Amino acid sequence: MNLAFLLVSQRNRKVFTYRSNVGVDNKRNFEQNSVDTKMITVICGTNRANSNTSLVVRFYENLLKSKNQEVEVLYLEDLPKDYVFHNDVLGNASPEFTNIVKSKIVPADKLVVISPEYNGGYTGALKAFIDGVWPENLKGKKVAMVGVASGRSGNLRGMDHLTNIFHYLKMDVIPFKLPISRIETLIDNGELVDVYTMETLDKHADQLIES
Ligand SMILES: Cc1cc2nc3c(=O)[nH]c(=O)nc-3n(C[C@H](O)[C@H](O)[C@H](O)COP(=O)(O)O)c2cc1C
Repeated sequence: MNLAFLLVSQRNRKVFTYRSNVGVDNKRNFEQNSVDTKMITVICGTNRANSNTSLVVRFYENLLKSKNQEVEVLYLEDLPKDYVFHNDVLGNASPEFTNIVKSKIVPADKLVVISPEYNGGYTGALKAFIDGVWPENLKGKKVAMVGVASGRSGNLRGMDHLTNIFHYLKMDVIPFKLPISRIETLIDNGELVDVYTMETLDKHADQLIES
């Protein structure tokens, strides 16, 4: 099979539909992206109810608010249950999903992704969400990461993998990737109580704000 034949036959395949759709949507989404806002959206990278990650997310949200930042929070567990199959990219998105992207992702100039470690990496729920958002709606945004785990590595591997994905999406990754290990020992009564972890999160937030 020669290259010309391969290109012609590829043109009829769905993978090209995705690329050309991105092109069509670029204009519309670029206008949305170019809005001059100073908003930070914190993303809780699990859909597990009552997750320990959500406690870190709540702490981070309050931290940013105490530093006079405009903050939105997106808990993946609040997404429509069918978002893996029905979203902006795959089609048949519910208005609810599209509104969440429009209100919490598009206007944010910075994102904080706080993701637990599941099976040695970040969560499938988070990848499904990223895949459901048009790349143009992520391109150019600054993104900071925090990992949360029961084990010792604090989701370092997951954050490294996310770094590759965010670079692919032409996002600006903040170098300070903070692993939080042994999370169960750092919380009490549904709240983060470990002083060292809180201080480190504070430095992390400062770096994001200064970036
Ligand atoms: C499906 C699943 C897989 C997990 N895999 C790991 C793992 O590979 N390494 C680890 O340290 N903890 C692992 N954990 C434990 C989580 O890190 C722990 O639940 C921690 O509290 C963060 O997750 P949470 O926000 O869902 O609570 C796993 C938990 C779940 C639910």
